Amino acid sequence: MVLLTGSNKIKTAVFISGKGTNLKSLINFSKLKKSPITIKLIISNDSKAVGLKFAKIYKIKKRIYNFKKKKSSEKAILLELKKNEINLVCLAGFMKVLSHNFIKNFKGKILNIHPSLLPKFKGLNTHERALRSNEKYSGCTVHYVNSRLDSGKIIIQKKIKIKKSDTSKSLSKRILIEEHKLYPDAIMKIFNL
Ligand code: GRF
Repeated sequence: MVLLTGSNKIKTAVFISGKGTNLKSLINFSKLKKSPITIKLIISNDSKAVGLKFAKIYKIKKRIYNFKKKKSSEKAILLELKKNEINLVCLAGFMKVLSHNFIKNFKGKILNIHPSLLPKFKGLNTHERALRSNEKYSGCTVHYVNSRLDSGKIIIQKKIKIKKSDTSKSLSKRILIEEHKLYPDAIMKIFNL
């Protein structure tokens, strides 16, 4: 196993829109000796995203782009990624769909985490939909990002059993705990570690 030291680690940006619990788990993971990544940049489309607090706590650079003009926001983000020598982008609860042009510029280097067993339940309200359709199992998926929503190549999945008593809240809570382990596992996997 090749261990990467601080300056050799892959400079990573995490994109968030909400609470940022996956961001926090990625930050904790990045600090492990075995981790191939270092998180250099946090990007959000929402200045009120609760997860932005982790930028301050862990002294990581943050940038906010409101996406009112998607094209210019994406252009500015691409410049910022370049400036910070970012080589991996992790979407973690990022609520904007990136354009084909953006993805093309970072081909094969953008990952996303989604709270369902893709290809089932792409898009929003995954837990409600899984419960409504009486699924026996749900879970989470880390996948490469392509220009179709939640449709890129799957890297890794974790399956959990849905309980009779589950509500979308209880299910999302259990799946989120799995997400926090799965994203680091996906990164280890893509770097063959
Ligand atoms: C997660 O469930 C993720 O799979 C989905 O949005 C949620 C983000 O949670 N895309 P957090 O902001 O990481 O706490």
